[in-house]
Amino acid sequence: MVNQLSFQSLVPTDADRTRVEELRRFVAYHNYRYHTLDDPQITDDEYNAAFRELVQLEERFPELKTADSPTAKVGGMVLSSLETRPHRLKMYSLDNVFSAEEWQAFLKRLDNAVPGIRPEFWCDPKMDGLALELVYERGMFVSALTRGDGEVGEVVTEAMRTVRNLPKRLFGNAPDLLEVRGEVIFNRKDFQELNARQRKANAKTFANPRNAAAGSIRQLDISVTASRPLRFLAYGFGEIEWGSTRPWTTYAEVMERLREYGFETPPDGRLCTSSEAVEAYYTALKDGGREKLAYEIDGVVMKLNDLEMQRRLGYTARAPRFSIAWKFPAQQATTELLGITIQVGRTGVLTPVAELQPVTVGGVVVSRATLHNEDEIINRDVRIGDRVIVQRAGDVIPEVVGAVLSERPEHAVPFVFPHFCPSCGEPAHRLEGEAAWRCVNMSCPAMIRQSLAHFVSKAGLDIEGFGQRWIEQLIGSGRVKTPADLFTLTVEELLHYERMGVKLASKLVNSLERARREATLQRLVCALGIRHVGEQTARTLASAYSDMDALGSASLEALQALPDIGPEVASSIRAFFEDEANQILLSRLHELGLWPVAAKQTTSEERSGILSGKRVLFTGTLSMPRSKAQQLAEQAGAEIMSGVSRKLDLLVVGENPGSKLEKAQELGIQILDETAFAALLAGNRDVLSETKTR
Ligand code: IVH
Repeated sequence: MVNQLSFQSLVPTDADRTRVEELRRFVAYHNYRYHTLDDPQITDDEYNAAFRELVQLEERFPELKTADSPTAKVGGMVLSSLETRPHRLKMYSLDNVFSAEEWQAFLKRLDNAVPGIRPEFWCDPKMDGLALELVYERGMFVSALTRGDGEVGEVVTEAMRTVRNLPKRLFGNAPDLLEVRGEVIFNRKDFQELNARQRKANAKTFANPRNAAAGSIRQLDISVTASRPLRFLAYGFGEIEWGSTRPWTTYAEVMERLREYGFETPPDGRLCTSSEAVEAYYTALKDGGREKLAYEIDGVVMKLNDLEMQRRLGYTARAPRFSIAWKFPAQQATTELLGITIQVGRTGVLTPVAELQPVTVGGVVVSRATLHNEDEIINRDVRIGDRVIVQRAGDVIPEVVGAVLSERPEHAVPFVFPHFCPSCGEPAHRLEGEAAWRCVNMSCPAMIRQSLAHFVSKAGLDIEGFGQRWIEQLIGSGRVKTPADLFTLTVEELLHYERMGVKLASKLVNSLERARREATLQRLVCALGIRHVGEQTARTLASAYSDMDALGSASLEALQALPDIGPEVASSIRAFFEDEANQILLSRLHELGLWPVAAKQTTSEERSGILSGKRVLFTGTLSMPRSKAQQLAEQAGAEIMSGVSRKLDLLVVGENPGSKLEKAQELGIQILDETAFAALLAGNRDVLSETKTR
C-alpha cells in the first residue's frame, strides 16, 4: 500500500521557505554567541529545538538544503532508524581553500596566531567517502559511529565488522582507549561493478562512490553491507587513554602508529616541511596523481605536524584551526555545442541533452552533457553553436555550466524547447510549478518499455511471469506497443521467442487472461501509470467513479472535490484522458473486455436483487474467477461470507469442493452448483426450491 507520506506535500510552501530562513539566521546567530563570543543568550534546549526543526524541514524538503546552512556546517544528519550515540570528542569538519592565494592566507592566519610557527604539515589525499570513528578498548574493536552531525553519530558497529580491512584486534601494545577516525570508501572499479550489478538486478544505482559507501554502511540489513567491497582508510584520531603507551607528539607519528596497529592509511601521505613543498604536493596530485589512485579524491588535506601546536590553536565552531583542505577545482573544459537533443525519460520527462564536440574533462571524453530543463537553458543562456563550459564532478553526469559569451557566433539564436514529444510527436505538457516538460502519451515508444513494466508489476495488474526480459523481447519484435497488445498474445506466437517453451507460454497467456478478467477498477487506474496517481489515489477514484468512462469525463472541479486530490493531481488526470493516444488505448482495453466496473457502484435497485439478504459462500474451482463470482453475487444483493456456519444461506460449489461442502451438508445448508447459480442470477428463482429438496 502506498503510505500517507507520499501525499504529504514534497513541495515547500512559501511559509516553509520563510521558516527555514528564519531558523537559519537564528541558529547561526546563537552559534556565534555561544562559540565565538562565549556569551550565549538562550538555553541549550532552545538552541537544540530550533536546530532540530531546521533539520526536519530540510529533511522533508531536500531542495531547501544549502551548503551554508548551519546544519551543513559539520556534516550530514542523523538517520532515525539507526541507534545514535554522542561522540566523546566532537568530529569536526574542515575549512577549504581553493587557490594558492587562499592557502597562503591560511598560513598567514597561523602565523598571526602563533608568530614564527614552523609550516610543517602532514599531507594526504582528501577522500570522498563516509567519515567514521572506530572505538578500540584494550586493542579490541568495540564500536563504530558515523560522523552524523559531528556531536552525535549513528552506531554502525555491525556493519563495520564486515569491512575486510578493518582491524578487529590491534597489533602490538595499544592505548587503553583509542578512537580512530577515517573514511569508508569504494574503489572506482568496485563502484562501477556494484552499479552494473544493481542495474542487472533492477535495483537502485548510486550516483557516486561516496553515496554508495554511505548507503552501504548506513544499512539496517548487514548482509547488504557484507556483500559490498568497502575499505576503511584511517587519517586521524579522537579520544585516547594512553595506558602504558607513550603519547604521540607529531602527525607523522600518528600515521606511523596507525599503520603499525594494522590500519590502512591513505597512500601518498607525506610530511611537507615548507609551504612550497605543500604546493608541489597539491599540484602533483591534481595534475595526474589523482587518476592513478584506485579511488576518487577531491583535494588534499594539510594537518599541522606538531600536535602540541594543534592543541594550542584549537577549533572554530566547525573546523580545526590547524588543518585545512585544499580542494581541486571542478573539472571543466570548453567545447562547441553542436546541437541539443531531447531525451524521453521513464516518466515521460523531456530532458535536453547537449551534443558536444568531444572534449576531455578530467581524463574522460565527454560528448554529451545534461542541460537539465527548459529554464536552465534559458538561465544559462546556452545556444547551439556556442562555445560552452562543460563540468564533471566525480562520477556524476557531466553538465553544461554556461556559454563563453565573447565567442558567441553572430547568428546564434536562443533554443526553442519543443512542446511535443520527440519520440511520439504528441503534445508535451508542462504542469504548473514544474520545470519539466513531459510526454503523457501512454503509447510513446520511449515510454512503452517503462510503462509496460509498471503495467504488469505488482503496483499495476500484477501479471505473473512477465519479467523485464520478455517485455523487452516483445517490444523489440514490434509485437507489443501498448498494454492492450499484451492481451492478444497467443501461446503459438509466443513460442517464436527465444527460450520460450510451451509451459511458459501457456503460463503467460493464462496470467494475462486471469488479469484481464479479475482486474478491478482500482488496479487498472493504478496500472495505467497516470502521473501522481498511486494506489491510494486509484482507490479514491475507483470508489467515486463507476468505470473508466465515468472517470475520463470527470471535470477538474469534480476531481478536486475528492479527498486527497489537489489541482496538480487533478490536472494530471485530465491531461491523461485528453490525450488522443490514451483514448485509443482505453477503447481497445474496453473492446478486449478489460473494463472493470467499480465494485461499490452497485445501485440500490441491484442490491435488492435476487439474492437480497442472502448470505453466500463459494467453494471449489469455478469457471470464472472467484472474485468475479462474488462481485456478481454482491450485485444481486448477497452478503459474502468467509466460512460455513449456521448463518450461511447458500453454498455455491465449483469443481473439487473441499471440507466446506461436507460441513454445509451436515448443517443442511442449501447448495448450488455453478449452473444453478448462473440460472439464479439470470432471474430463475426456481433453482432455489429445486435444489432444496436435493
Ligand atoms: S583530517 C579535524 N584527512 O573530509 C578533521 N579528513 O570535509 C580532520 N576527509 O570530516 C580531518 N579525507 O571526513 C582528514 N585525508 C583526510 C581526509 C579527511 C577525507 C574528510 C573527513 C572530514 C571531511 C571534511
